[in-house]
Amino acid sequence: MKMAPEEVKYGTPPYKALLNLRYEVLRKPIGMELREKDTALDYTEHHVGIFDSNRQAIGCVLLRPLNDHVVLLRQMAVLDSYQGKGIGAKLVAHAETLASQKGFTRIETRARKTAYGFYAKLGYTAIDNVFADEHTLTMGKSLTPGATP
Ligand SMILES: CC(C)(COP(=O)(O)OP(=O)(O)OC[C@H]1O[C@@H](n2cnc3c(N)ncnc32)[C@H](O)[C@@H]1OP(=O)(O)O)[C@@H](O)C(=O)NCCC(=O)NCCS
Repeated sequence: MKMAPEEVKYGTPPYKALLNLRYEVLRKPIGMELREKDTALDYTEHHVGIFDSNRQAIGCVLLRPLNDHVVLLRQMAVLDSYQGKGIGAKLVAHAETLASQKGFTRIETRARKTAYGFYAKLGYTAIDNVFADEHTLTMGKSLTPGATP
C-alpha cells in the first residue's frame, strides 16, 4: 500500500477529517461522543494522518508532550475496513521518528486492553503491569537506540 503518514496542522480541513475518524473509530463504537476534554489540547499536539486517494482519512495518531523527555501517543485509530494491513504499525513508526526528531527520549501510551497486543508487537512494555484505569494499561518504549524498553 503506497499511502504514507503525513503531519496534519491543527484546525485545517485534514485535521477535521481526522476528528471525524477519531469519532467513528474510537468513540461511536462505545456509544460516546468525542468530548471537549478529548480535543481541548489538540492545538498543542502533533497530528499524524494517513489518507486514501480520495483524501478520506483512514488512520491517525496524536503526540502530546508530557514533559521535555516523554511524549504520549494517543487517539490511535485505523478505519475498520483498513485494519490489519500494517497501517497502525506505520503510523506508530512515523510518530516515534517524529518524537525522536523533536528530542523526546521516551514514548508512552494508555492502551485499551484490546490494543495491548498491538503495542506489545511494536516493542511497548507495560509499566509496572498496572492498568491506568479499569480499561487501559500504561505502556511505554525508549526512543534511545539500543536502550531496553
Ligand atoms: C489497534 C489498531 C490501531 C491497530 O491498527 P492496524 O492497522 O489494524 O494494525 P497493523 O495491521 O498495523 O498491525 C501491526 C501488528 O499488530 C498486530 N495487531 C494489530 N491489532 C492487534 C490487536 N488488537 N491485538 C493484537 N495484535 C494486534 C497485527 O497482527 C500485526 O502483527 P504482525 O506484524 O505480526 O502482522 C486498530 O485495530 C484500531 O484502530 N482499532 C480500534 C481502535 C483502537 O483500539 N485504538 C487503540 C486505542 S489504545
